[in-house]
Amino acid sequence: MNYITSLISRAAVAVLLLLASPALAQPRQEFLLTSNWKFAKGEQSAAQQPSFKDTKWQTVSVPHDWAIYGPFDGNNDLQKVQIVQNNEKEASLKAGRTGGLPFTGTGWYRRPLTELKLAPGQRAVLLFDGAMSNAQVFVNGKQVGTWPYGYNSFSFDITDFVRADGPNLLAVRLENLPEASRWYPGAGLYRNVHLIVTDDVHIPVWGSYLTTPQITAGFAKVKLLTKVASAGSLPPNLRLQTEIRDASRRVITTLNTPLAATDGHEFEQNLVVPSPQLWSPETPTLYTAVSKLYAGEVLKDEYTTRFGVRSFTFEQNKGFSLNGQTRKFKGVCNHHDLGPLGAAVNTAALRRQLTLLKEIGCDAIRTTHNMPAPELVQLCDEMGFMLMVEPFDEWKTPKVKNGYSRLFDQWAEKDIVNMVQHYRNNPSVIMWSIGNEVPDQWAPGGSKIAKRLQDIVHREDPTRPVTAGMDQFDAAVNNGFAALLDIPGFNYKPHRYPEAYNKLPQGLLLGTETASTVSSRGVYKFPVERAKDKRYPDNQSSSYDLEASNWSQTPDEEFAAQDDLPYTLGEFVWTGFDYLGEPWPYEGYWPSHSSYFGIFDLAGLPKDRYYLYRARWNPTQPTLHLLPHWTWPGREGQTTPVFCYTNYPSAELFVNGQSQGRHTKGPSDQPQTRYRLMWNDVKYAPGTLKVVAYDAQGKAVAEETVRTAGAPHHIRLVADHSTLTADGQDLAYITARVEDAQGNLCPDATHQLQFKVKGAGRFRAVGNGDATSLEVFHQPKMHTFHGQLVAIVQATDKAGEIQVEAKGTGLAGTTLRLQAARSQP
Ligand code: GAL
Repeated sequence: MNYITSLISRAAVAVLLLLASPALAQPRQEFLLTSNWKFAKGEQSAAQQPSFKDTKWQTVSVPHDWAIYGPFDGNNDLQKVQIVQNNEKEASLKAGRTGGLPFTGTGWYRRPLTELKLAPGQRAVLLFDGAMSNAQVFVNGKQVGTWPYGYNSFSFDITDFVRADGPNLLAVRLENLPEASRWYPGAGLYRNVHLIVTDDVHIPVWGSYLTTPQITAGFAKVKLLTKVASAGSLPPNLRLQTEIRDASRRVITTLNTPLAATDGHEFEQNLVVPSPQLWSPETPTLYTAVSKLYAGEVLKDEYTTRFGVRSFTFEQNKGFSLNGQTRKFKGVCNHHDLGPLGAAVNTAALRRQLTLLKEIGCDAIRTTHNMPAPELVQLCDEMGFMLMVEPFDEWKTPKVKNGYSRLFDQWAEKDIVNMVQHYRNNPSVIMWSIGNEVPDQWAPGGSKIAKRLQDIVHREDPTRPVTAGMDQFDAAVNNGFAALLDIPGFNYKPHRYPEAYNKLPQGLLLGTETASTVSSRGVYKFPVERAKDKRYPDNQSSSYDLEASNWSQTPDEEFAAQDDLPYTLGEFVWTGFDYLGEPWPYEGYWPSHSSYFGIFDLAGLPKDRYYLYRARWNPTQPTLHLLPHWTWPGREGQTTPVFCYTNYPSAELFVNGQSQGRHTKGPSDQPQTRYRLMWNDVKYAPGTLKVVAYDAQGKAVAEETVRTAGAPHHIRLVADHSTLTADGQDLAYITARVEDAQGNLCPDATHQLQFKVKGAGRFRAVGNGDATSLEVFHQPKMHTFHGQLVAIVQATDKAGEIQVEAKGTGLAGTTLRLQAARSQP
């Protein structure tokens, strides 16, 4: 439901209730502050003052990423560093390390709080889901608070700073330092800002904590702790009435609890859900606890806690079980940027990422290496993904000059507390990480820091285990660091899992970060060979999926360790999606400025690895995929290996009808031949490449054909969905393909395509997944990369038809029609 509509309809209900009973005034109002913001880049003197004239500033809507509009430039945040953890021997200039975008420096945002009217005895709170970074928040010219870490959520009570009848002016100063990150952080108010108005007696931000201490087939016990706050002393006769509703909003139980003198400022309620529907990635059933806070008969506040009922255990030698079923994490690590949209959060963009991850059978995400947007966590609850939520990439010892180490002593506990309190009711969150590859693994006192941080997490949430991503195997295993974690997590160490298992007390271990295989969609290099840190003159990596970093592996090496060692808990692949920044192995090789690690490219198009993981992780869908493409003018007669990613056990390959032999996957010393079918000696001849797959009984059950493409002929547009919600936010992702007259993808086409969007939508951004492309994302034109790109179209708030027109020189253009419809109330 549209937020504003929901507010209006709630207000309408409140008015009706008010007529019926004066005790039931609308207790809580929440406003999403999206429109009406003014923004200026650069330092501005006295911009926090209400009298400051911002008429010349840009009008923007929030979430907003000021840097994603570019232009790209290798001098943006140019870093001269030696990355010890990448085994570099000396410092070198790293252009593009943080994306080559202009995110450093100061930016200001201003907005009148026109919706704010405080009745006597009401309070106002500003809640930021994240602000990048070093936020200073001012109301009516006075500073109400600061929060330096750009990824965390934080709130300030602004009651004492506002005029009850207005006008009230909110101003936010943000500043991003250079050399503060190893990837693109984004810039500005890139997550949502909320204004919350409550009675003086209210439930504070993240004021509830819900656990399910006992779950059987017959019932789930629900324990709900709810805080109550007031500027003064609490009134007498406070009571909390909580009803639990099931997924269809049916009330299944209600409890009324008075606040006893001995309860302090917290209600404890114990409720029962009969015959609970369990939450899992496959069945993401959600319940809600709706709590009404009364003083006598006066409704003071209403607060909703959404939750799921699920149990899990991590047990020595048994591993991880969810609801009694043993399983291994089929996870990916993701950074927070949304490719062409930058860091500005958008629910539809996140939903599309999760939809794509579901297709490959992925069931878990590690939010590397920072707190996620709340929209992601909510979607993971709804769509069924298990989350490892991670706050930090460094503690006291720096990785980058101006990174979190500057804040660690003063802020680490506050940052962890906010993170855990924010997300501890979300069923998708299964474990916390306290950090990634922190250099404190081997620094004196590092274990003591780890213990302290783990203790803070346990104090805030005793129901979930703590892990950390460790890369310094010898130091961490020998100095006690690895032994003290609830779950030892290793980055890129499949070959050392047995040693870790033998030396550590936990009896299990997790692949917190795995593979870091690099590839560029549509790019195949010859000869085909396994290589580390392989660089080519065109700054691309081969999609035969045999190239990795010097510290990492091909996917198959991790698969073998996970399959052979029962105490492994699964893996989190680096990464699900390509991201802005960290263009290894081309860090410092401008114009590379986005990563090559993704299973999906920066535009969200699948690389070949999509099929390798899908074949392994998604047993319910047949996967049969051939690579490379079969359009190689000039390679006639040359050796052109063909790989097949499939979950069928064996297959036979044909080139123009000529059998190349039948291969079967199976145990082998070579992890590749165990998980892929490979024909290494195929000689290229234009025509058709066909694979016939056989099931375990030897029956031919499926086939796949790739044809040599002819000349580029037309553009084809394919939308990920054709009906959008007319809410001004929803997005359609439209893949544009350059095809020959027969509809084959022209795999080397580099045409520039132009877009026009008319009707009830607007052009939002475009991306082609090329890590070297310096074309900006927000102009409605871009060159295809290996025949494809993705245009992103956004719904307006009007229902109606959207026409997306695509043109390109020498190609037949096309128009795609989508619908924007009002959402169902
Ligand atoms: C890891 C690190 C990640 C990323 C990755 C690339 O060591 O934890 O953040 O840098 O390497 O392979």
